Amino acid sequence: MAKLLVEKSGPLKGTVKIKGAKNSVLKLMAASILADDSCTIESVPELLDVEVMATLLESLGLKVDYNRETEVIETYPAEDLKCEAPYDLIQKMRASFLVLGPLLAKKGIAKVSMPGGCAIGARPIDLHLKGFQALGAEVTLGHGYIEAKAEHGLVGSEIYLDFPSVGATENIMMAATMAKGQTLIQNAAKEPEIIDLANFLNEMGANVKGAGTDTIRINGVTSLKGAKHQTIPDRIIAATYMVAAAITKGDITIENVVSSHVKPVTAKLREMGVTVEDEDDRIRVYTDGPLKAVDVTTLPYPGFPTDAQAQFMALLAISEGTSVISETVFENRFRHVAEINRMGANVKIEGHSAVIQGVESLQGAQVKATDLRAGAALVLAGLVAEGITEIDEIYHIDRGYPQIEKDIVSLGGKIKRVEI
Ligand code: UD1
Repeated sequence: MAKLLVEKSGPLKGTVKIKGAKNSVLKLMAASILADDSCTIESVPELLDVEVMATLLESLGLKVDYNRETEVIETYPAEDLKCEAPYDLIQKMRASFLVLGPLLAKKGIAKVSMPGGCAIGARPIDLHLKGFQALGAEVTLGHGYIEAKAEHGLVGSEIYLDFPSVGATENIMMAATMAKGQTLIQNAAKEPEIIDLANFLNEMGANVKGAGTDTIRINGVTSLKGAKHQTIPDRIIAATYMVAAAITKGDITIENVVSSHVKPVTAKLREMGVTVEDEDDRIRVYTDGPLKAVDVTTLPYPGFPTDAQAQFMALLAISEGTSVISETVFENRFRHVAEINRMGANVKIEGHSAVIQGVESLQGAQVKATDLRAGAALVLAGLVAEGITEIDEIYHIDRGYPQIEKDIVSLGGKIKRVEI
C-alpha cells in the first residue's frame, strides 16, 4: 500500500513526453490472440493494467515477452489456446473482457468472467453481446460467466450500436475479422484508439475499413499473421498535463502527442483564457492570468472526453464564476466530487451535471482516489491547494499513469510516494 503526498507547488514549467496510450495498448494485446505468428507492440507504457493483460494472455496459453526498458511487448501464439478467461484476472480490469471477441473468432468458443474495473457507473456489456449474437454466436450467462459459442464459425452481419461504445466496437471488430463475409458496425465509436486497433488488425492481414467514422466495414479473412505496431500516444495523459499547466499557471510543452486528439480540451482551455499553441505532435500550454468558468459536456469522441472530466473539474474549482459539467457518457462519474469538496471546492451534483462555483483557493486534505482519472484530478488539485494533500488508494492512478510523480517532479512540482 502506498499514498501520494502532494504539496502546493509553484507554476509547473518544462517539457514532458507522453507515452503510449493504455486504452490502445490493452486492445492491441488482446488482438494479438488472433495472430498465427508473433506480434510486436511498441511504446507500451509500464502500467498495472498492462501487467494484468499480459498475465491474462499467458493464462490463455500465449507467450508474452515484456521488455519494460524498451517498452516493447512480443507475443507468441499459444500451442493450445485456452478459451476460458478466469474471474480473478477479469475482475481486476474491465478491458480484459476484450479477449472475448478474439477468442470467439479464433476458437469458436469463449468463456469469460463478467468484467470488473473502475467503478464509474453500471457499465453493462449488452452491446458487446448483441454484436456477438448478430455474428451468429450463441451467448449464455451463468455463475458470473459469459459463454459465447459459434461452432461453425461467425458470420458477417449488420450491427447497429445503440450507443457508440468504445469497448463494444473493438470487441465486435476483432470478432468480425475472421467471420465469413462482411460485417458492418453502425454508430461505431470513433475514438483514436479504434483507429489504432483497426490499423494493427489490417497490418495482421485483416480487411477493416472506415475506422474513425461511424460505419466500420469488415470483410472477414481466414487467418491473420503477426505484425509490428507502434501504440499511439496517450491523449488523456496529455490532457492531464495540459490541465496541470493551466491550474498551476505554468508553462508546459507536451511532446509526443497528436494535437488533433485533444482538440476539445484545447478548445475549452482557450475559452478559459489559457494559451494553447499546438503543432502536429507537440503542444505548449501556458497562462498567468485569471481563469474563466466554462461549461463542459462529455461526449463520445470527438466530443470532450469523459476521461478528462475529473481533471477539468479540479481546474474549474478554482476558476472565476460558475461552471457546469454535464456527464453524458457514464451515469455515475462524479465520485470525485466528495473528495474535491473536502479540499474546499464548492461543487454540487444536480442529476447528471455538476455545478461548480469557483473558489479562491483549495486546502490540502486527506482524500482518496475513487477511480483512475479521479485520482489524477486530486493530484492536480493538490498542486495548488494550501499545505499538503494526502491521496490514498493510489493503485487506481497506477493503472493509467506510468510515471506521474516523475513527470510532475521534472516540471518542478512537489509530490512524493510513501509506503504505508
Ligand atoms: C472506454 C475506456 C474508458 C473511457 C470510455 C469512454 C478503455 C479500456 N476504457 O471504456 O477509459 O472512459 O471508453 O470513452 O478503453 N455501454 C452500454 N452497453 C455496453 C457497453 C457500454 O450501455 O455494452 C455504455 C456504458 O455503460 C457507458 C457508455 O456505454 O455508459 C460508454 O462506455 P464504453 O464506450 O463502452 O466504455 P468502455 O469501452 O468501457
